[in-house]
Formats: sequence, structure tokens, C-alpha cells
Amino acid sequence: MRKSFYLFFPLACILYIQCGAPDKKDAYGSWDTYRGSKDASQFSSLSEINKDNVHLLAPAWTYSTGDAGNRTPMECNPIIIGDRMYVTSPQLDLIALSADTGEELWRFSASEFKEGSGVNRGVTYIDDGQEGRVFMSSGHYLFAVNALNGTLVRSFGDDGKIDLREDLGRDPESISIALSTPGIIYENLLIIGSATGEGFDASPGHIRAYDVMSGEFAWRFHTIPQEGEYGHDTWEWIEGENYGGTNNWGGMSLDEEKGWVFVATGSPTYDFYGANRLGENLFGNCVIALDAKTGERQWHYQAVTHDIWDYDLPCAPNLVEIPWKGARRKALIQPTKMGELIVLDRYTGEPLLNMEEREVPPSYVPGEKAHPVQKFNQGIQLVPQGLDSTYLTNISPEANAYAREELKKHRNEGMYTPPSIEGTITMPATRGGMLWGGASYDPFSQRLYVNSNELPMILQLDRVSQGDENADGAVSGYQTYMLNCSNCHGTDRKGLADAYPSLLGLGDKFGDQEIKTIITGGKGVMPAFSQFGEKQLQALVTFLKEGKIPEDAATAAPSGLERYVLKGFRLFLDQEGFPASRPPWGTLNAIDLTTMSIDWKVPLGAYPELKKRGLPDTGTQNFGGCVATSGGLVFIGGSADEMFRAFDADSGEVLWEYQLPYGGYAVPAVYEVDGKQYVVIAAGGGNRIGTPSGDVYMAFALP
Ligand code: HEC
Repeated sequence: MRKSFYLFFPLACILYIQCGAPDKKDAYGSWDTYRGSKDASQFSSLSEINKDNVHLLAPAWTYSTGDAGNRTPMECNPIIIGDRMYVTSPQLDLIALSADTGEELWRFSASEFKEGSGVNRGVTYIDDGQEGRVFMSSGHYLFAVNALNGTLVRSFGDDGKIDLREDLGRDPESISIALSTPGIIYENLLIIGSATGEGFDASPGHIRAYDVMSGEFAWRFHTIPQEGEYGHDTWEWIEGENYGGTNNWGGMSLDEEKGWVFVATGSPTYDFYGANRLGENLFGNCVIALDAKTGERQWHYQAVTHDIWDYDLPCAPNLVEIPWKGARRKALIQPTKMGELIVLDRYTGEPLLNMEEREVPPSYVPGEKAHPVQKFNQGIQLVPQGLDSTYLTNISPEANAYAREELKKHRNEGMYTPPSIEGTITMPATRGGMLWGGASYDPFSQRLYVNSNELPMILQLDRVSQGDENADGAVSGYQTYMLNCSNCHGTDRKGLADAYPSLLGLGDKFGDQEIKTIITGGKGVMPAFSQFGEKQLQALVTFLKEGKIPEDAATAAPSGLERYVLKGFRLFLDQEGFPASRPPWGTLNAIDLTTMSIDWKVPLGAYPELKKRGLPDTGTQNFGGCVATSGGLVFIGGSADEMFRAFDADSGEVLWEYQLPYGGYAVPAVYEVDGKQYVVIAAGGGNRIGTPSGDVYMAFALP
């Protein structure tokens, strides 16, 4: 195995030299960009740590940010500039560390501007010819911070910051928005997506670009097309309805030579019911190629039409170059929540594999019209799509019998069965398949590595009672709740185990003002709802405290449409709480892009409880991503057992593992200082897996 790797190595180099490409060793030797490089490769050409010595790998330093909350995640992929590392904390402070010792150099706290916490997956650095600047986002602000001393760069934007609610073509006060995944820099422009929320009131996720020096607004691409723009006629517009989401929340990749940025979008909102947005809904669930200078669309590829499953495209596509029909082809690989790797020509958007359109089942939910066809075989499929009785859990006869009975109670007609009142089995779940952790691409071996989940969920809708808007506060507070909050906290407000807290008895815990602060500022993975006016907010608080569910009366929406919402986030689990599908429930995969086939697939993680019963290889639900290196290794945390592992890139064998203090639900970074190689990961736990939250960055090196 190793031999062929090294044999192939010079061949690949020759090919690249012939093509006039830059030296790949240099291109992948540093980690100065989110996901390692602008092509989203998540790959390091460093090889000091390799298969032969990785068993010696040990902690080099540990740094605690000191501000973990109850359920806070820490999803940051650190960047390293010279000997300095930039990371974010659970409460979204920006921190500079000495990359070789973990010593804190400075800390920028945005607390004076902050309206709560949120999620931050990383930051962007630019050499501005002075001391360098770091762009980081918290709340609805994007800050430019001096990379040397952690002070605001006051000449940027409005006194060092940009208000992300502006430049969307709407009243900024009506917007609720954040930036969880950092943008990407092309020449003098910082191009950004957004996190917009997923309720009926969500803000639109248009793509924007700003000047990196002045903070001046440069261009906007409407992911929800405006009148007169391409794609506008793919929506059935209704007066008085809100059109939101359709946002790029998982980052972008950039073809610097071509000057194109590749943007993957999520679904339009509301995620699971689209009666107010019938039609194909461009540019929802698309890969879009934009001219990075102007924002002009070059091509798009829509992976899901009129999405009602929350099948966002969750990460930036990997830009790759592959042998294709005797020539070399610039392509891109888009991982999906549906568990496939879509392979597109980078310059035309044409699918390179045998995609086909097939009829899918109709929706029976009033008002909804599911799109009659969806795309199948869009790429290399890594996860079973759809769940039938032959693929139910086999961890015990009891679990299998339980799952079998439960399965019968739900609508289940294969992939893309619409959400329903009785509950629809959906496989993969909204957590993938693949998620924001993205894939790692080794340009030398032309292998792609990616972790995935293999879990079913139940999409059950509830009708929102149509209380009278003009009645007492509790009634319209109920509607605000149902339309914006119930998909996480449940229509019964009981929440979900460790992931989403119950909101019952809230009045005993918090005062009105405290509740309002949480709602308008967000908390942990809960988005901010800063767009609610005071009257609406007070009504919501009154409802949360009194819980009065209205009698049916007038209509729920200004347009007169009925509303249906997700009853709550619910995985399809067995009687003990393990997934009701057959393990593995989480995997790490290696795909050979020269043959478009899977080289190996191994379970990722284990449950100690099941191990004791003799079931070691179940894999677990996982968050975060992997990094492959020229040392022949693939590093990944991500699993619910809170381990950090190094896999053999050729065989998928675990060569090293380390018990982290908290779950490593993030993408690691690989870098060197003074010729010594390090691997660092955020161990922040929490997240939607429900393991304890922490605040630790851990770097590993050879002794
Ligand atoms: C995307 C999922 C999601 C949505 C949507 C959401 N929340 Fe939350 N909410 C959470 C999570 C997760 C927490 C726990 C955060 C933490 O402790 O770090 C939380 C915490 C809270 C808390 C604090 C509870 C406590 O005991 O600490 C309140 C109050 C709350 N949410 C209200 C709301 C309201 C009202 C809405 C709608 C306007 C809403 N949430 C929408 C996920 C969500």
C-alpha cells in the first residue's frame, strides 16, 4: 500500500508540473485559511507525523478559554499565521495563541456589541500590509481585529465593524442574521454567506461581498431572486408572505485562477412546509458558481427541488482535478446531507455521473405541493437512502422488534417521502449524511475522505391552531412560538433530551427580561430572534410562561394561509435510545476519485455500553470533519465517545486514539512551527449530540 503511494507521488508531481500548477507541497504546508486552503481541501502536506510514529503522538499543550456554557458548542477550525493561532471561544471571544506553546497572547471580547452567543466555525485572515487583520463574527456584527494586538481596526466599516443586517435590501431592524462559518477572500473582497434561522420569519440569505480594507459594501447576489432576475419565476409568490433562508451557512470555496467562488445553499424557510413558497425555489439547495469580483452567476446546480426535508447543502464543495475520459478535468465534489458526493464539472456545473430524475410521492398536508420529481444517483452514494424493514437495527431482537412496530406507524415510501401529520421516516436525517465538517481531499493520492452519519429521523408536522391575532397576548405569542421555536423546543415545549431544553416552567427560572434577552440574542446553537418587535416579544414571553393554546379562530398568517410546523426534532430511535437503523451509525469513508469508487468505509466511534455487550463497531452520530495528511494519516474527532483518532489513510485502520476532555466536534488543523508538526482540535463538546460542553483547545505533537 505504502509503496504504491510513493510510486504515485512523483507521477502526480510530474503531471502537475506539466500543467503548470503551483507547487502543491507549499500550497498545503500551512493552515492560514478555514478548512486549510481556499479550495476547501482540508489537507496538509506535512509528514513529520506519519504512520510509523503516530503511536507516539502526545499532547503538546492544552488551552482553556474559560467560558463554556451549559450546552455551548465549539466548532472552530483554528487558523495559524506564522507562529500565531487564532481561535474562538464558546461565548465567541476571538483569541490569539502562541501556536507552539498554547500561551494566550491577546483576547478580543465583542461583549460590548454582543447580544448573546452563537456558533462560530472559524475566522478569516488577511495581510493588510500593516499588522494583519482577522475577520470574526459574533451576533449580527462582523469585526475587523488587528492580528498583532487584538484591537478593533477602526478604519474598517463602522468603527471596526459591519452590521450584517444591512445591505440585504430590507429594513435592517426586520433582519435577524449571523455568520457562523467564515467568508472567503478574493483579491480585495471578503465574500460572506449567513446563518438566518429556519422559521417562517427567517431573513433572506443573499450572498454579499465587502472591501477588506474599508469595509465598503461591494456586491450582493440574491439567493432568493428578485423580480426580473433569473429564477424569480421558480417561486409562486404570495403577497404578505416572508421569504427567507436559502442561505450559504456552511462556507464557500474559491478557484483563485478563474476568479469564481462556489457557494452551496440551504433550503428556503420554513424548512419542512412550503405551501407559502410553492415552486422549484431557486436558488435553494444549489451549488452556485459566482464571479467573485461581481457576484454574477455563472451556473447553478439544484440538488433538491422545493426542499421540505431540510436537505441543505451543508459545506463548501471540494475543488478537485481528476482524470476523466483520458484527460484531466477540473471538477468539484459537493457532499450532501442526503449522503452522496455530487461530482460536477467546475466550469459548467454539468453532473459527471449518471444523475437521473425520478418521480417521488406526493404530500397530503393541506396546501403543500411536493415537487413531483427529484434527482437520484447524483453522485457517489455513501449512506443508504430510505429505510425499509430489512435495514432496521439488529443490535438486539428487542430493538429490532420495537423498530419494526414503530416503522409501521409512519409514512415511509422511500427517499423524498414528504413530511406528514402521522410522521414520515426520513433517511438520512437532517444531520446527514454529510454536514458542515466537509470532506478532506488529498491532491497527491486523489483520494477524498469524509465522515458521515447514518441515522433515520421522523418528520411529523403539527397544524398551528389559528388563534386570533387581536386577542390577548398569549394567543399571538403562541403563534410566534409555533412558527419559530417549535422545530427545536417541540410544539409541546418539552424540548429534546440533552440537546434542546424544555421550556416548561420557564417563569420559575427566569424573569421576563432574561427570557427576552435569550430570545433576541440567541444562546449556544439557538439563533437570535432580534427581528421581533416589543409587543410580539412580550406576547411570546407571556405564552411561554402561561402556555395558553388558543381555540381555533381566525387565520394564522397575514396572507390567510394555514401553517404547519415540525412537532419537534426527533430521531428515529429504539427503546433504549440508539438509532433504529442498522449500525454503523457513523462512518469514515475513503473514496478514490480516479475510479469514483469507495476504497474503504469504517465505523467512526463506539458506545462503551454497547461495547460491553460485544458490539464494538457501531459508530456513533458525529459532528465536525477530518484532515488527511501526507504522513498517510486521517485525523478526526467528531464521535460521541469524545475520542480523537488517526486512521491509516490507505486501510482505514485506527493507528492512534486519544480520549479528549470533551467531544472534538470540529475540524482539526495541521501546521508546523520551527519545523515541528502539530495537530490541534477544539474539544468543545455540547453540540447536538448532548455530551457535556467544554472549552479546550488541544494540540498534539511527537515527543
Ligand atoms: C435551532 C434550534 C432552536 C430554535 C429554533 C430555538 N431554540 Fe431556544 N434553545 C435552543 C438551545 C440549543 C438552547 C440551549 C442553549 C444553551 O444552553 O446554550 C435554547 C435555549 C432557550 C432558552 C433558555 C432555556 C433555559 O432553560 O436555559 C429559552 C428561553 C429559549 N431557548 C426560547 C426559545 C424561543 C422562544 C424560541 C423561538 C423564538 C427558540 N428558543 C428557538 C435551541 C433552539
